Amino acid sequence: VSPDAVTATVVDALDALVGLPYDGEPVDQLQHALQCADHARRSGAGRELVLAALLHDVARSPHVAGEADDAGPLDHGQQGARWLAPLLGAQVAWLAGAHVAAKRYLVATESAYAAGLSAVSARTLRAQGGAMSPEEVATFEAHDGWRDAVALRRWDDLGKDPDARVPGVAAYVDDLREQARCAAGC
Ligand SMILES: [Fe+2]
Repeated sequence: VSPDAVTATVVDALDALVGLPYDGEPVDQLQHALQCADHARRSGAGRELVLAALLHDVARSPHVAGEADDAGPLDHGQQGARWLAPLLGAQVAWLAGAHVAAKRYLVATESAYAAGLSAVSARTLRAQGGAMSPEEVATFEAHDGWRDAVALRRWDDLGKDPDARVPGVAAYVDDLREQARCAAGC
């Protein structure tokens, strides 16, 4: 599959997030994705982490046939990762997929974090398995990208501002094409 075809597939999946409710949060799924990516970019994150922030909830897109909730064997992060891996490579997929795990990690390791979750996010935490066990924390920290996954999670929690004005999907097309090229071997 050519980088242009991958880019078109990903852009279509993102565009289909417009107007989709984000649980009870005050932004739609597309605004949420764009705000998370913008936080990543302004924080100086590299291309893979910016794109993972943009695409972390892509499993919510009707173009990515995911399950309705996180009670199944794969949560929506893992479902998104499975879709992303052949398109944009293993690292983008892992970072995107780890955002549910990173929330469970932060709940286990930062007492203030759980208290700061939105009401919606606190409610979904239960379906996602609650706080990580000490063994799960150790396994998570053994992964090279765990700090980036935690950073993405914090942008995820910030990307719910109804008044934010951020660049649209077009701002990420060059990075998507370059990443698709690299995922195919660069
Ligand atoms: Fe999110």
